[in-house]
Amino acid sequence: MKGKHIVLGITGGIAAYKSAHLVRLFVKAGAEVQVIMTPSAREFITPLTLSTLSGKPVITEFFTANTGQWNSHVDLGLWADAMVIAPATASSIAKMANGVADNMLITTYLSAKAPVFVAPAMDLDMMAHPSTVRNLELLESYGNHIIQPAEGELASHLVGKGRMEEPEKIFQAVDDFFSCDNALKGKKLMITAGPTHECIDPVRFIGNYSSGKMGYAIADEAARRGAEVTLISGPVAIKPAHSSVKVISVVSAREMADACAKVFPTTDIAIMAAAVADYAPESYSDRKIKRENNDAPTIKLVKNPDIARSLGESKRDGQLLVGFALETDHEVENAISKMERKNLDMIVLNSLRDKDSCFGVDTNKVTIFFANGSKKEHPLKSKREVADDIIDDIINLIQ
Ligand code: CTP
Repeated sequence: MKGKHIVLGITGGIAAYKSAHLVRLFVKAGAEVQVIMTPSAREFITPLTLSTLSGKPVITEFFTANTGQWNSHVDLGLWADAMVIAPATASSIAKMANGVADNMLITTYLSAKAPVFVAPAMDLDMMAHPSTVRNLELLESYGNHIIQPAEGELASHLVGKGRMEEPEKIFQAVDDFFSCDNALKGKKLMITAGPTHECIDPVRFIGNYSSGKMGYAIADEAARRGAEVTLISGPVAIKPAHSSVKVISVVSAREMADACAKVFPTTDIAIMAAAVADYAPESYSDRKIKRENNDAPTIKLVKNPDIARSLGESKRDGQLLVGFALETDHEVENAISKMERKNLDMIVLNSLRDKDSCFGVDTNKVTIFFANGSKKEHPLKSKREVADDIIDDIINLIQ
């Protein structure tokens, strides 16, 4: 993002107040930001706020009235490395789709040669109206990137789809566009993530503390590098940041095993980051087990399938299988023996002894072992950076 020229178009919607934060994110990352506002955007946020944050006078008109200085939409369109329109109201989207060049922002849009990112923001009924749907399809057909709005409470207090995506996500989409090296283009990746829940009755299950953060970070990183990613996920409270990641949601280890068996044969690289429950109750009670009628019940457990191991047995030449090991004791020996037992090409070891690399936290400290006997120790990093390291190692292996 450093040194990139961003034209940030702000149109007249209440989400305009979030655009100030978006300017900050771009500036902090080293980009130069030129804000262009539509006349009605000025009713929602002052140009002074945005010019102070961006360090450049905000442009709203074709010329500056008191000096007569002409603001060239053509020059701005050519200056931009990316144009981001956030928020984009239904009206501005309609003008962009149909070439209605009646303000400085739309004329610049029509002149821009750079990629355009559009973050719609409007009420749910406006969002769902066939004209908006068609206009957004038109923008997509012009090659514009639509950053879909989130669902949630809207300014009208109605709840639904139409809330402008958070500035961090908009920034991420643009950053991803610039930093993507496409090293995994054409590769199909399957990633398992999260815990599995093994049901006892309709209200109880056996599970573990896995948050899914590590697996989701890997899925996002792989998608950013151009891979086609299928994420087979146990029950978690997070979503992938990258919109191209396909999620298959499962609950139990058996469901995860079934989903993996379907996806694995057409996969180039499989990364087993899920914390799969090793055991499940032998039987499931479809009615809640009541306290009054019972002594404390004994729950007999049976072994769950070892998904990584069965994929390792069916692995064909050219397929890469990556596992994780989570250990409290004899970490290195256990990790290496797991890699051999499951026929893995690489295993990522985290030690539960490390308080910064356990369940739920945003950091991780890993050592990666390879089937050829080599290893790489990494210092404590964010899960996103660890995902980056893991993907780098995978790319080295396939090259
Ligand atoms: N794994 C799996 N299916 C299982 C258990 C584990 O696919 N039923 C995968 C995990 O996703 C991980 C690797 O195997 O990539 C090692 O998981 P781990 O829980 O550390 O090992 P286990 O084989 O379960 O051995 P143990 O619990 O005895 O350490």
